[in-house]
Amino acid sequence: CGIVGYIGKRQADELIIKGLERLEYRGYDSAGIAIMNDTLTIHKKAGKVKALRKLIKEEDTSGTLGIGHTRWATHGEPNDTNAHPHTGNSGRLALVHNGIIENYAVLKSALIAEGHSFSSATDTEVLVHLIEEIQKEGNLPLEEAVRLALGRVEGAYAIAVIDRDNPDVMVGARKQSPLVVGIGEGEYFIGSDASPFLDSTKRVVYLEDNQIATISLAKGLQLKNTDNEDQPPFIQTLDMQIEALEKEGYDHFMLKEIYEQPRTIRDAMRGRISSKESRVALRGMEEFANRFVRANRIIIVACGTSYHSGLIGEYLIEDLARIPVEVEYASEFRYRNPILSEGDIVIALSQSGETADTLAALELAKKKGAMIYGIVNAVGSSIARLTDAGSYIHAGPEIGVASTKAFTGQVTVLTLLALSLARKLSTISNTYFQTLVRELELIPEKVEEILKENDHIKYIAGEVKDHHNALYLGRGYNFPVALEGALKLKEISYVHAEGYPAAEMKHGPIALIDENMPVYVTATNKSAYDKIVSNVQEVVARKGRVIAIVNKGEKAIAGIADHVIEIPSTEEPLTPLLSVIPMQLLSYHVAVELGKNVDQPRNLAKSVTVE
Ligand code: G6P
Repeated sequence: CGIVGYIGKRQADELIIKGLERLEYRGYDSAGIAIMNDTLTIHKKAGKVKALRKLIKEEDTSGTLGIGHTRWATHGEPNDTNAHPHTGNSGRLALVHNGIIENYAVLKSALIAEGHSFSSATDTEVLVHLIEEIQKEGNLPLEEAVRLALGRVEGAYAIAVIDRDNPDVMVGARKQSPLVVGIGEGEYFIGSDASPFLDSTKRVVYLEDNQIATISLAKGLQLKNTDNEDQPPFIQTLDMQIEALEKEGYDHFMLKEIYEQPRTIRDAMRGRISSKESRVALRGMEEFANRFVRANRIIIVACGTSYHSGLIGEYLIEDLARIPVEVEYASEFRYRNPILSEGDIVIALSQSGETADTLAALELAKKKGAMIYGIVNAVGSSIARLTDAGSYIHAGPEIGVASTKAFTGQVTVLTLLALSLARKLSTISNTYFQTLVRELELIPEKVEEILKENDHIKYIAGEVKDHHNALYLGRGYNFPVALEGALKLKEISYVHAEGYPAAEMKHGPIALIDENMPVYVTATNKSAYDKIVSNVQEVVARKGRVIAIVNKGEKAIAGIADHVIEIPSTEEPLTPLLSVIPMQLLSYHVAVELGKNVDQPRNLAKSVTVE
């Protein structure tokens, strides 16, 4: 989502709306604005910022203090009510928020007991009511009420708040979600990044985690941390164009999204897993836990990259929870008169939640009486609305057409699902469950470590870029990763590539191998390891060029491969979350080297709404 705030002498509305338009790349399902004049007024609207602009045209939005928001939903459908800013019972406050309040359900029931009533389905509304409740307890300055409220919140946030009864301040705060203050001549801005105000000022202060900024024209910018200690602001002067800012300095959205994965994987797990408490729970699934544990069969339907994460889901759920799983291309499933009964659960995987074939497959499954579950990124999308229950992956908007962070988000949620079912069905030992939970919590750090191999991977991309074909091999959990690696390369570099189960190579693709065939082998499995070594030897014997992804310290394959990418080891069911990262980077660099349009490859669409 995107946040904009303004306090100064100019009219705030136009500056905020323009700022929101610049932030639309961060989310675009609804937008809103709050303006302070004699009173505080909020206008908000589902849809793009354009719709908000139209809405306020006829309204009096004059005023020199205001905040705005463009949303990418995490809780609650993208409609007018759920759009930000939110306000409490009295209407004195307006608040915009990015991030996730994990303990919102607990806070909400406590506030309802205190007499608060809620109008939206968002976690954000809980925060504004909490601040209001704290203000009621004592006649506190806004920033102090915000500080006390944040002390009771678990989760991630960037917020901006204004208060009718403190009409000359704007308060902002951040924890794990970016927020930056712009310092102009007699005016200040707040933004999720600096793009909304870059044409007014380049002097900025990036807030650190747990910092609260209090901004007024009388006292300027004051920073505190949540422990109430003063913090000296560190003012920087930016030397950047707006375009680069949107991509956070990365050359392409795809690269930015690849690098976001430590955070997005963490967000997919947030509030759902705790190794300390030995707990894994997906709220959407808990409601239907009985149906899940008694399911005859789980059928996963999806398209494209989502289909590949579905295949990993099959390995996970069968291996850990011992429930039979089938994975089908949504388009095939719906046209082959599938056998379905009430004991079946159909899970749809979709980043956009709008893919026509996946949607139609679900409608068919629903008609036949199966329970339908969604694992979706876009909140409130058609698939999310159609399903009986589901879990969002919370990856934020994915702009690059080639899916990266949505894939790892889906695999993370599928892992949580499998673990939680395994726990309920006692299909794995407590010790193994705990090991997997602990290892899963470490995945974001390990992804970060792999990202440090970027230069090495770029070098390899330079070495292989001129080959017109590529073969991707993997076994077990890494077979779907091979399919995904091949798809990534095809999508953005237009190099023909195929993914194959490593052992199947000798039944066909081996005929293609010669010195012009790069072969990508993922060999991070601990089981059947020797078999993979033999597969690699078969390739080398035919002069194929092997690029191997191996666990750190591995010797056998490293000794015979042309190039080796070492990654940290983990428990086997979790390997796809790591082994796919070098593949994403490699495809990215090959496409860049070949001069292709990485973010918008020819002929492809981000969301395919035709059948
Ligand atoms: C298109 C996109 C792919 C995506 C597929 C499924 O082909 O280009 O990146 O994997 O659709 O989309 P979904 O939104 O349902 O995951």
